[in-house]
Amino acid sequence: MKIFLFGIVTFMLVWFSQQGVDATREINERRHRHGSRLMKETFYPSYGETFPSSLSDRKTSTVFNVLAFGAKGDGTTDDTKAFEAAWLAACKLEASTMVVPKGSVFLIKPISFSGPNCQSNIVFQLDGKIIAPQRSGNWESGLLQWLEFTKLNGITIRGTGVIDGQGSGWWSESGTKPTAVRFYGSSDVTVTGITIQNSQQTHLKFDNCQSVQVFDITVSSPGDSPNTDGIHLQNSQDVTIHSTKLACGDDCVSIQTGCSGIKIENVDCGPGHGISIGSLGKDNSRACVSNITVQNTKIHDTMTGVRIKTWQGGSGSVQGVTFSNIQVSNVETPIIIDQYYCDGSKCQNKSSAVAISEISYENIRGTHTENPIRFACSASTPCTDINLDTIQLQAVQQNYDLLKPFCSNAYGELKTSTNPPVDCLMAAKPSKKQSQSSYDSCQN
Ligand SMILES: *[C@@H]1O[C@H](CO)[C@@H](O)[C@H](O)[C@H]1NC(C)=O
Ligand SMILES: *[C@@H]1O[C@H](CO)[C@@H](O)[C@H](O)[C@H]1NC(C)=O
Repeated sequence: MKIFLFGIVTFMLVWFSQQGVDATREINERRHRHGSRLMKETFYPSYGETFPSSLSDRKTSTVFNVLAFGAKGDGTTDDTKAFEAAWLAACKLEASTMVVPKGSVFLIKPISFSGPNCQSNIVFQLDGKIIAPQRSGNWESGLLQWLEFTKLNGITIRGTGVIDGQGSGWWSESGTKPTAVRFYGSSDVTVTGITIQNSQQTHLKFDNCQSVQVFDITVSSPGDSPNTDGIHLQNSQDVTIHSTKLACGDDCVSIQTGCSGIKIENVDCGPGHGISIGSLGKDNSRACVSNITVQNTKIHDTMTGVRIKTWQGGSGSVQGVTFSNIQVSNVETPIIIDQYYCDGSKCQNKSSAVAISEISYENIRGTHTENPIRFACSASTPCTDINLDTIQLQAVQQNYDLLKPFCSNAYGELKTSTNPPVDCLMAAKPSKKQSQSSYDSCQN
């Protein structure tokens, strides 16, 4: 009997413990299957200073390293396919990170990182270098951009990496040239930390974007590289650009039609053509730009400082612009409005223009080499509400005839005396009709 009971108890113990083992095995297997499924989908990095290394972190990882997708990173192999594959994987998971690691150079052909079927808040972690193919024979003709990000909600490019357009082969050519990095139709866009250099044309462009933050970036190309705008904004709202160094061959920042709520501060601009609104109104088009602030900014060795340029013809308005605390040095013309903008070709004077009003210049100081101030406003559509407050500009070389302020058809107010004195700004306001109707056409 004792032996019988002992046998039963032993049997039960063995049976229960076996059940336990099976259960544990089952859980382990499930975990393993799950884990390997995740591995396939996420390709967490096989190495890396900046990535979670504990097993539990890896399991939840949504990090997609281009090296895990076959990128070589040797600067000569075409890594475009690997980038496309890494993006496709990252795009499927919210808040995922596509990693372009440090220490490698990736040759990438024109590529689109695009929604609208991507999840939101994707991070493009750029710590390595991306280079474009050289000009000769490597490009389809008529391409408008090299690296394109479209229709994304929450997209961040960050890191210490470099995007190099290797544009010198393009600079002597005429015709269409690509923008290096273009965001289109996206919201909550952040670009920070990186360097964009030697673009074929514009370095960084935002078109149809909302809520854009650009900070701590560097743009760099030679002062004589043609049309290499630093940052180009078009049809975009709520954009902040700050703590950024822009050296290029055209406008450091160019603000085009459809922009409002733009703030630019702590920017170092030069060489280049300065910070520009426009050109606007080309081919009799309507342009609307409003609520622009440029402040606490250094502009040096540029063609213009703060500029508004419009073509003859056209309609719409530029309204509500403040340029304040701008330090200029060795700038040809620090303050300029040019309503007779003409790109070298033959331009006719027309009976309309984009209206310009409520433009404030506050605390603008430094040195210039041509007119310190030039307000060339349209006879048909004079500039109104131009305010000058605390302007201190000195010519770099003396005895030069162009050194006086110039105004025509410009109305506004001197809030303080200026150096040099500005006696060409007219105090009385013109009939409001023309500029009011242009402004109204932008309110709809
Ligand atoms: C002007 O733009 C700023 C952002 O730069 C925004 O905060 C502000 O609300 C805008 N003001 C108006 C009147 O639209
Ligand atoms: C257009 O008008 C401006 C200002 O009056 C003048 O300087 C310029 O020569 C005119 N251009 C043409 C092509 O008539």
